[in-house]
Amino acid sequence: MGDSITITDDRTGKTVTVLIEADNTIASTALRHLDPELRVYDPSFVSTASCASAVTYVDGDAGILRYRGYPIEVLAERSDFLEVALLLLTGELPGPAALAEWRQEIVVHTYVHENVKHFMQQFHHDAHPMGMLVSTVAALSTFYPDAKQIFDEEVRHKQIVRLIAKMPTLAAFAHRFSVGMPFVYPDNDLSYTTNFLSMMWKVAEPRYAAHPVLARALDVLFILHADHEQNCSTTAMRTVASAHADPYSATAAAAAALYGPRHGGANEEVIRMLDDIGSVDAVPGFVERVKRGDGRLMGFGHRVYKNYDPRARLIKRTADEVFAVVGSNPLLDIALALEEAALADDYFVERKLYPNVDFYSGLIYQAMGFPLEMFTVLFAIPRTVGWLAHWVELLGDADQRIARPRQRYIGAGERPYIPVGERNRA
Ligand code: ACO
Repeated sequence: MGDSITITDDRTGKTVTVLIEADNTIASTALRHLDPELRVYDPSFVSTASCASAVTYVDGDAGILRYRGYPIEVLAERSDFLEVALLLLTGELPGPAALAEWRQEIVVHTYVHENVKHFMQQFHHDAHPMGMLVSTVAALSTFYPDAKQIFDEEVRHKQIVRLIAKMPTLAAFAHRFSVGMPFVYPDNDLSYTTNFLSMMWKVAEPRYAAHPVLARALDVLFILHADHEQNCSTTAMRTVASAHADPYSATAAAAAALYGPRHGGANEEVIRMLDDIGSVDAVPGFVERVKRGDGRLMGFGHRVYKNYDPRARLIKRTADEVFAVVGSNPLLDIALALEEAALADDYFVERKLYPNVDFYSGLIYQAMGFPLEMFTVLFAIPRTVGWLAHWVELLGDADQRIARPRQRYIGAGERPYIPVGERNRA
């Protein structure tokens, strides 16, 4: 027998011995042997593993991130986004023929039904593109009712292809709508990222020529954002999917979670924060305010990483490449000064707060011309792949039942009902 933990219920003297698995987890079901009504109280899953997953490995203390066993640094250097997408979904790096077939499948599914376009054109003129994306992804389920057949592998694959292929189209349409520009249809001769840039920026030229450095930078950013194990939005995806909802509805739920400023909305918040700080001189004062509990240093801290987020390291390098083409972002100096001040300050050191993926990504997006409101959308495009990889994994996991956490009830006991006219309240 390997390592174990023995728990004694001091009320009854009953004892249970639980095996500690190689990945440092214990089965909570063991507690039922002591008392079937005993619950583990773990708000926000700080110490709870909600599933077994083979998709992504994160070691937050060591600053390690691997997709299907491959270090993120190697993938960002040697692969492109669609190749990484197939790796995340299938577990293996594809051979040349499989990769070519995959690219072709994606290319032929980039168009959306004309009614999807009309649907998007009905939003209020200043609708946030992320709100548009969340709603439109949910609406896709009405266009593809076959998606409900979640245990038919062929049908499932088709929805995966559709979602990954159409996400950039919906994202670009949301932007074009918000600036009052006509929608640009996909160009099937272009790569995933150059096609997206074309749908974003094309005006009257016959073909939009994306700068190769910028297209590659975006591709690297997409790789870095493709998955991050059981984060808030992936947990939302798994929770909704555990009820056997169709993948469009589940992806919309995941995207809604990503929209929050504590999650995918943080890159937008970073830019607002740097704007508010305004100058390098104002950095020390800002840091002191954060330490007093007046706001947070956005783009810093992570539930899992208690070390430098490896994605932030790679993003810093990508930022240099982008700035060499488009000129530096004036907010960069403030960001660098802020990072330096925080990393030298006991408050941040003691709490192991380091830059996360969002600290520099917004600066790159801004330098590339993306409006602030598009930042979370830029995150949602690649993260769709991660959500879908977890969706497939969940559906194939015999241990997974409908997600249904228990609670600690802290409300009132049974109370007598008083008719409205007799209530002694205003
Ligand atoms: N600035 C200042 N203090 C912070 C920050 C921050 N960014 N993050 C955490 N802290 C402090 C907390 O106040 C707390 O201090 P205390 O122990 O004195 O009360 C301590 O560090 C622990 O913080 P928690 O909130 O318990 O950490 P948690 O794991 O719940 O939160 C989170 C993680 C949400 C990412 C948090 O660090 C945060 O709000 N960061 C800013 C937002 C951000 O950048 N989000 C992007 C995350 S990456 C992603 O989603 C892609």
